[in-house]
Parts: sequence; structure tokens; C-alpha cells
Amino acid sequence: MELSTDALRTLATEHSTPLFVYDLSYLSGRAQQLVDLQLPYGLTARYAVKANNNPRITALLDEIGLSFDASSSYEVVELLGQGIDPTKVSLSSQQPAHNLPELVASGIKYVATSLHQLELFIAQAPKGSTVGLRVNPGLGAGHNNRTTTGGANSSFGLWNTYIPQALKLASDANIVVDRLHIHIGSGADPKMWGEVMKTSLAIAELMPNVTSLDIGGGFKIHRYGDEHEADMVEIGEVFSKELKLFADRTGRQLHLEIEPGTWLIAHAGVLLAKVVDIVDTGADGHVFLRLNTGMNDIIRPSMYGAQHRIGVLSDSSEREEYVIVGHNCETGDILTPAPGDPEGLEARLLPKAHIDDIVVIYDAGAYCASFAVHGYNSYPSAKEIFV
Ligand SMILES: Cc1ncc(COP(=O)(O)O)c(C=O)c1O
Repeated sequence: MELSTDALRTLATEHSTPLFVYDLSYLSGRAQQLVDLQLPYGLTARYAVKANNNPRITALLDEIGLSFDASSSYEVVELLGQGIDPTKVSLSSQQPAHNLPELVASGIKYVATSLHQLELFIAQAPKGSTVGLRVNPGLGAGHNNRTTTGGANSSFGLWNTYIPQALKLASDANIVVDRLHIHIGSGADPKMWGEVMKTSLAIAELMPNVTSLDIGGGFKIHRYGDEHEADMVEIGEVFSKELKLFADRTGRQLHLEIEPGTWLIAHAGVLLAKVVDIVDTGADGHVFLRLNTGMNDIIRPSMYGAQHRIGVLSDSSEREEYVIVGHNCETGDILTPAPGDPEGLEARLLPKAHIDDIVVIYDAGAYCASFAVHGYNSYPSAKEIFV
């Protein structure tokens, strides 16, 4: 997000706060990088719609040539309602689809995430249909435990030892499992991807009819501190090497799919808010900046201990340490939790703030507006605008 301090201040005044501002040209550039990636046997880049389901965003990404990953049958309904081609949509949901017959008929790519979901699909789909299978590979990695979606502590996907059972269920019903879907978590260290691909390919080897591997999303971005931004070209090279080795070994050339959410949209958005109060808890306590937003618009810090860069739009050269909190009547409504300790507080050194100053919460394009706690304390949700 390239907007200047003055431009952000003007937007806050014109539209009032709290306000999400998204930079569409930044988003286009990011999406184009994925469209340009070269993989030896083809690549489908999907946008994980849950990261931000604003129709302007999905429409733009559709136009640029991305496909879509939906996490519920309701997200699929939204996408199809916006005129997205069903064949560009893949669904892998934790809850069985509420409208499975319509979805099967529409031509979306369906991914069963459990034996029960596979049985439901088999009961609806014509013989000879193809289906994807989401597998928990037993390996997980994420920014923290709450964003890790692989391994024995995660309920997501069919546990890998049940693969033979799933394949038999499908083949007995004349259904072909042709896609393998794996998503190990969000925000994993970029160095993990070689190992993730090797593990995924070992699983693909057990699934002879699989022609396409969806390795999920989770590509890390730098929001704060020493977090490492994933380099998609480098990761693409790691993937290419492993896919070629797999092809040499098995004769199978797998099409690759990826489905980032965060990597595409997080940097493209900021949340603008206003300081509504400044309170302190005495000499041994903290100075708290309270904003007119909080966990109802941006829940990641409270929920995951996630770190977002935060700036005060002030011309003051004085600096002060502030713990930044939201306006909800919840002690946990903290925007600056201590890194690695979500229950702790960490003060940030910021320009001296005054009531009514504008505050910018950066990298708020993903899992903020779409993850909002609507209605809590009856606060209205932040508006969204595009520049
Ligand atoms: C199945 C699946 N794919 C893709 C994603 C996108 O992850 P991220 O936003 O970290 O790229 C998620 C996020 O949880 C997911 O569950």
C-alpha cells in the first residue's frame, strides 16, 4: 500500500473512521506476479476468498485471471452470484455443503475433506465424476498453533492413513479422485515449502489417479519485526524441482494449484481509525491509546496475537510508548499484544498522540473485514473504500 500520510489523512476526513482502504493497483500487481509464475506442468493460482470476500476484490482478481478457493458452500453461492465461472471455483469446506446437488450440477470443483463428505458427494454425483480429496499430511506449520492446519492437533482434512479407505469408497462407486488438496497452515516459515512439497508428493504417490495437486495457501508476508516475506518465484522454483523429480520417478506430470489469501491481499489494505481516549494506569502501568475500532473490525491481534505495524499520523517529533487497545468492552481487545505472548501487552514507541489523531493499522487487507465480529457492543463495522 503506497498511499502517503497526507492522502490517508484526507481519506479519513472525507469518509470518517473506522475505514478500510484498499489499493487496487497494488493488488493487481500482486495477482499478476502469480499469473506470471511458471511451473513445469502448469499452474492454477486461486484466491482464498475467505481472506476478503469483498466483490470488488473478487471481480478484479477474476479479470486478472485468478481462480478461486472457497471455504464454504455459501462463499461459492456468493462467487457464482457475482458471475464467476463455476469451473474456476474449488470448494473445500469443513461443513458439508448446504446445496450439494446444485453445486455438483454447477460444475465447480468439489473437494471432500472427510469420509462423510466423500460419501455425501458419491450419493449425489453421476458415475464417472471426479472429486478432490483434502488430506491432512501429518505435517503442519503456521504463524502459531491457531493458524496451523496440519498434524494431529488439526481437524482439517482426511487423516492420511485413511487414504486407502477413501480411494476404495470412491472406486466402488465409480468416482475418480483426481485432485489432492493439502493446506498445512497460514504464515509458515518460507523455508518449509520444499518439505511440504516432498510430503505432498509422497501422498500423491499413494493416489494413482491424481493429476492435480493443490498445495494450499499460507505463503507468509512481512507485517512486523523480523517476519520473512515469502518470495513466490523462489518458492515456485522449489516446487518445480520437486515436481520434475516426481515426474522422473513416476512418469506422472502433476498440474499444480496454489491458493493464497494473505499473500495477495493483506498488504493492499489499511485500517484507519481515530484516537478516542488516552488513559494510563500509573507510574508502574501503561499508557493506553484507545481507538474507535478494535476486535470487531480487526480480530487477528486478539485472537492470534498477530502483530500489525501501527502508525500515528502526527507531525509531533516527540515519542511516547503506548499500548494500543480497541473500543470493545473486552480486556482482550488489544492491538499490540506482546510478540509470542498473546496474553501479554507490548508498548510501541510512536509519535506523541492526541485525542482525534488518525492511526493507521497496516496490512489489514486479509482476515479483517471478512473476519469482523459484526454487532458486538453494537458498534457499526468499518466501511470499505477503494483507491
Ligand atoms: C484451505 C485453505 N486454503 C488457503 C488458505 C489461505 O491461507 P493464507 O491466507 O494464509 O494464504 C486457507 C486459510 O486458512 C485455507 O484454509
